[in-house]
Amino acid sequence: MRARPQAPSLADVTRGRILFGGDHNPEQWPEETWQDDVRLMKDAGVNSVTLGVFSWARIEPRPGAREFGWLDRLMDLMHAHGIGVVLATPTSAPPPWLGRLHPDTLPRDEDGRTEWWGSRQHFSHSSATYRRYAAALTEDLAARYAGHPALTMWHIGNEYCTYDHGDEAATAFRRWLRERYGTLDALNTAWGTAFWSQHYGDWAEVIPPRRAHYLKNPAHVLDFRRFTSDALLKCFLVERDIVRRHTPHLPVTTNFMPLFAGQDGWRWAAEEDVVSVDLYPDPRDPLGAQEGALVQDLTRSQAGGAPWMLMEQAAGAVSWRGVNHPKPRGMNRLWSLQAVARGADAVCYFQWRQSRQGAEKFHSGMVGHAGPEGRGFQEVKGLGADLAALGPHVTGSRVTADVALLHDWHAWWAADQEGRPSARVDHAGVLRAWHRALWENHVTTDLAHPEHDLSAYRVVVVPRLHLLTDTAVDNLVGYVRAGGTLVSGFLTGVTDRDDRVRPGGMDPRLRELFGIRVLHEWWPLEAGETAACDGFDGTLWSEELQAAPGAETVAAYRGGELDGLPAVLRNGRAWYVSTLPVPQALRTLLARITAGAGVRPVLDGLPAGVEAVRRGDLLFLLHHGREPVTVTLPDGDHHDLLTGTTVTGTLTLGRYGVAVLRP
Ligand code: GAL
Repeated sequence: MRARPQAPSLADVTRGRILFGGDHNPEQWPEETWQDDVRLMKDAGVNSVTLGVFSWARIEPRPGAREFGWLDRLMDLMHAHGIGVVLATPTSAPPPWLGRLHPDTLPRDEDGRTEWWGSRQHFSHSSATYRRYAAALTEDLAARYAGHPALTMWHIGNEYCTYDHGDEAATAFRRWLRERYGTLDALNTAWGTAFWSQHYGDWAEVIPPRRAHYLKNPAHVLDFRRFTSDALLKCFLVERDIVRRHTPHLPVTTNFMPLFAGQDGWRWAAEEDVVSVDLYPDPRDPLGAQEGALVQDLTRSQAGGAPWMLMEQAAGAVSWRGVNHPKPRGMNRLWSLQAVARGADAVCYFQWRQSRQGAEKFHSGMVGHAGPEGRGFQEVKGLGADLAALGPHVTGSRVTADVALLHDWHAWWAADQEGRPSARVDHAGVLRAWHRALWENHVTTDLAHPEHDLSAYRVVVVPRLHLLTDTAVDNLVGYVRAGGTLVSGFLTGVTDRDDRVRPGGMDPRLRELFGIRVLHEWWPLEAGETAACDGFDGTLWSEELQAAPGAETVAAYRGGELDGLPAVLRNGRAWYVSTLPVPQALRTLLARITAGAGVRPVLDGLPAGVEAVRRGDLLFLLHHGREPVTVTLPDGDHHDLLTGTTVTGTLTLGRYGVAVLRP
């Protein structure tokens, strides 16, 4: 997937060590603290820090000024202690003077309200002024540190996520649309503007979707989301290309938010040398570990299977939920090693030292308010030692999967809009439910785009892809023809590239593939409502469909309006599931389908709550519970890299215990 064959990669930075460290914001502290910082970093085994993420005002306190002295001293300090620096372009938090002198750099929301300075990410992706200042700063930063021995990697911006509905964005949106459609006629056709008298007679009439009286045109909204992702990507590319020019040998990344709707994550990842993500599952969420696994699987897949970077996580509590729980003892280590199991070669945090001021002063740090004696830092230190032990055995190795779950941002954007059959069905929720079933079955999964080459997978699962391009549909049909097993949930292939409903309510090629003769009606379910099916209950959704001759009804609806109609339909190697079976039932169904396709769980007979992942020749066992459990191991001796002991037969894992076994 990587665009440049000779591109630098994470391996150039790790060199056999797992990167360990995090965002470091020493400009918030008096310089005396810096010495203490590096001493504690060495103590904890930190080998990488990210500097400068929010340092724009410090580097450029006045327009055009450059104050690099403090950063020079920091870079030197890190180098003197053997700590590598991931240097960020600080362009996600413009200083107040930029907004004051150039209000055109500030984004506007749907209601036309300005997002003012006083927080962060208050920049318009389409503002020429913003881009000019950001590029100039990036240029000078790159020129100054290109040759610095501490510099290991570039981190562009931070969590690109800003929308802009203002006038400059409107101009850029029109430009983007002209490139896509060429003519207004083509745009009118694609957007279906015959509906509600929306026909555009002049490009100047086309605006971003703004506050409106009633429902907006979904194709317009879809294109605006596409445009926004592309406009933000342009900001990234400008800065990426500047730093690449100065340091072609160093990798470039930018951090994604976990399962975030705002960027086309496939497209973006292809432009990075290292794919990185921020991950903050709720420690209280019983499915927090699965959320982590899903994001990790997605990030690894975005990286084309190459090692990736956990750029940010919390050592303890975050500060942005309604109620913010700390991580109980052992969980930080467990979740960090889970990321390594699923392909991460870097385990980093927001942030090194917990702030005493500012909006995130109650967000944990590697060194929390409790200081080095606090449990948080002590656990961080322990983790540093674990990662140091694992590094030489783990880095560079890959996780392989026989199953792919399909995910596409465009389908997400088209699906989760107003005016849909059920507001209860959300794209990410359905994806989570299907991933959960596979995760609980101990089947490792990749994620893939519906147009990717799927031939390496024994089973492909489509939780839900509302919008599918013709290419994607052909790809799925071709995959099954070539011997693959395909399972699809409901609301897949409903619309085409422009979000136009396919004839018959679902693409005819897919209906034929799944053995659906007629899709009569959708019957969405209310909260708490279930649809009884043979042997299980369906939730969220049900469908009135008629099977084609030859298709097998594996489970039918029982009772009610749909009595006797297929709930689960099978046509050879293609399966269609027209409801969301309760978790246990979805697990059973997927266990049957995957086993039928020759897919084996990572390990059989695992106790509840134990996750098993293979990475290279290592077997990771991760216990997500608090009571000790005993795992039956594959035959032979195993060397546990974390304890240095040899284990045979069975292994007991204590509270949040982890073992990393080599046969
Ligand atoms: C991330 C962000 C960090 C910090 C962190 C807190 O989204 O990149 O700067 O705000 O969240 O959880």
